[in-house]
Amino acid sequence: MVRWIDWESVDTVVEYGPGTGVFTEQILEYKSPGAEFFAVELNSQFATSLAMRFPEATILQDSVGNIEALCRQQGVSEVDSIVCGLPWAVFSDDDQTAYLDAMMNVLKPGAYFATFAYLQGMVLPSAHRFRTKLQSYFSEVHASPTVWKNFPPAFIYRCRR
Ligand SMILES: C[S@@+](CC[C@H](N)C(=O)[O-])C[C@H]1O[C@@H](n2cnc3c(N)ncnc32)[C@H](O)[C@@H]1O
Repeated sequence: MVRWIDWESVDTVVEYGPGTGVFTEQILEYKSPGAEFFAVELNSQFATSLAMRFPEATILQDSVGNIEALCRQQGVSEVDSIVCGLPWAVFSDDDQTAYLDAMMNVLKPGAYFATFAYLQGMVLPSAHRFRTKLQSYFSEVHASPTVWKNFPPAFIYRCRR
C-alpha cells in the first residue's frame, strides 16, 4: 500500500478511512519529515483512539465526501498521494461516484492513489463497478497479485491520476 510510492515527491498525503491505524503507522514511517499529512475517519471511536495513538498526526472525524472542504480547512490546495482503507464494495453507486469526484478535485495530475479490495468481495457487482470506475478516473490502474497471507486474502489497486 505504501512502498510503491515515491515518497520524496510527496509533499501532501491524505489517508482515507484509517480505521485502527495499520496504514497510518506505515505512512508516518515512510513520508518525508516535512510532508503534510492528515487522515479522515468517519467513525468517532476510531478517530479518537487514532488521535491518542498518533499524537503527531492530524485525524479529522468526517467523511471523505467532504475532502475539498477538509483540504481548505487544513490549508492544502493539492494532494500528492491518497492511501485508502475505505470499503468501496459496500458503497452505493452514487457514493462511489461522489467520493471519487471529490477526490479528483484535490488530487494533483500524476498523484498516487492506493486502495485495497478483498478477493471474496469480487463476487459483488459493486466491486466490479468500482474497478470500472477506477479505470475511467485514473490514467494508470494496476491490480496487484492476491496477497494470500492476508486474512481474508486481498489485493491492492495502485493508481496514478
Ligand atoms: C476497512 S476499515 C479500515 C482498515 C484500516 N486499514 C485499518 O487498519 O483498520 C474502513 C474504514 O473506513 C471508514 N469509513 C467508511 N466510510 C467512510 C467515509 N465516508 N469517510 C471516512 N471514513 C470512512 C470506516 O469507519 C472504517 O474505519
